[in-house]
Amino acid sequence: MASMFIKCIITFLALFVSGVWSDEQNAKKRPIMLDRSGGFTIAGKVIKNPINSNMTLSCDHGYMEYFIPWKPRKTSLVMWHSSSTQTWQNRFDGGEGFKDMFLRRNYPVYLWDAPRLGRANWACEPTFYMPDYRDQGNFIAWNFGPSYGNFWNDTQFPASNETAWQQATSARYVEYDTNANIYLQANAAAVAADSYKIGDSIVYLTNSAAGLRAQLAVALSNTTNTKAIVAYESFGYVFPDNLNITAGQPFGPLIIPLEQFKKLAKLPAIQYIFSDHRSENFTFLAQARLSATIINMYGGNAEVLLLGKDAGLKGSTHIAFMDMDNDKVAGLLDKFLRKNKLDRYTRQRGSN
Ligand SMILES: *[C@@H]1O[C@H](CO)[C@@H](O)[C@H](O)[C@H]1NC(C)=O
Ligand SMILES: *[C@@H]1O[C@H](CO)[C@@H](O)[C@H](O)[C@H]1NC(C)=O
Ligand SMILES: *[C@@H]1O[C@H](CO)[C@@H](O)[C@H](O)[C@H]1NC(C)=O
Ligand SMILES: *[C@@H]1O[C@H](CO)[C@@H](O)[C@H](O)[C@H]1NC(C)=O
Ligand SMILES: *[C@@H]1O[C@H](CO)[C@@H](O)[C@H](O)[C@H]1NC(C)=O
Ligand SMILES: *[C@@H]1O[C@H](CO)[C@@H](O)[C@H](O)[C@H]1NC(C)=O
Repeated sequence: MASMFIKCIITFLALFVSGVWSDEQNAKKRPIMLDRSGGFTIAGKVIKNPINSNMTLSCDHGYMEYFIPWKPRKTSLVMWHSSSTQTWQNRFDGGEGFKDMFLRRNYPVYLWDAPRLGRANWACEPTFYMPDYRDQGNFIAWNFGPSYGNFWNDTQFPASNETAWQQATSARYVEYDTNANIYLQANAAAVAADSYKIGDSIVYLTNSAAGLRAQLAVALSNTTNTKAIVAYESFGYVFPDNLNITAGQPFGPLIIPLEQFKKLAKLPAIQYIFSDHRSENFTFLAQARLSATIINMYGGNAEVLLLGKDAGLKGSTHIAFMDMDNDKVAGLLDKFLRKNKLDRYTRQRGSN
């Protein structure tokens, strides 16, 4: 009886220490307690006026906004969208997004505007915005349904909410889908990762074309500070230069030196997540499988997770972390972080 009691206590303590106990079940009820929040620019360059070299422009940096919990876990979640950071802030219907969900779980959260996006639009070169009629294309690209206005019957988008659609399709920034921009943004992220300003245990959460950029950031980084990538529908992949894979753009494939590519195989884990209603021959899913195979061939730990077929989350969209069932999507991320031991707490209340 007494030993049973002690066993219970030990189990309880083990759960408590590992964080499992307090995670999913109680996360929703917990207040968000921050030690601090703020932001900074990182990377970029200073260019000189060719006519008067005393005049300079500091430009092409990225912008990192941070939220550090009162009692932080060790791993920083860097939320990276190729367009708008808004995607990480709310569910499609305005409910809680990944930013607050993971702050409640005590992860330091970083919202990243890569160079030339959003709050990092102070470019070193002229930029160009050509308005185009994008809304209908967004609907299909984001996998809300097979054609504009025709939602999948099981969609996790709040289909009858007109305002939600308006919010989703308008919360975008100008996005530059060129290889030069992919390198610019990935390099800035690598500089940020190597700076220790976002900690020494970094997990990139990415959506869409940010997945390609995060892979390249790992390849360009000179530290082991980055521990994982969880890419929601990565549009684009890097591949090593020894396999005769044909390069393409603007969403890859990007061919990089094998030595750089091998850094992806050194990450503790990579997870490529695909939403529902995607066929196996969907270009980016096929490329994800190939990427995972090659990374694993070099000793890495990459996997593809289908939200529909593997996890039973029907009707998930391209931006699954904004879906109506994003609490379940978050639960899958909890599992991933726990499995890869990225859910540990820092020893004492944060110094960083
Ligand atoms: C640049 O600054 C230096 C030192 O202050 C000064 O001697 C020089 O005249 C300046 N050049 C121009 C083009 O203003
Ligand atoms: C519809 O979506 C908008 C924008 O996300 C939100 O503000 C609103 O509360 C939603 N309406 C309902 C009924 O959920
Ligand atoms: C939704 O279900 C209706 C009725 O079964 C069907 O006619 C329609 O094609 C379905 N829509 C999609 C996008 O699958
Ligand atoms: C990594 O090191 C190489 C060689 O010193 C350097 O060229 C590159 O800029 C570094 N990468 C980053 C992200 O600082
Ligand atoms: C590489 O790929 C190209 C086009 O896909 C093909 O023509 C060529 O024969 C391949 N080379 C090798 C060595 O496999
Ligand atoms: C992809 O696979 C589906 C069946 O899973 C098939 O209907 C479709 O034609 C295929 N598309 C291409 C481009 O191969």
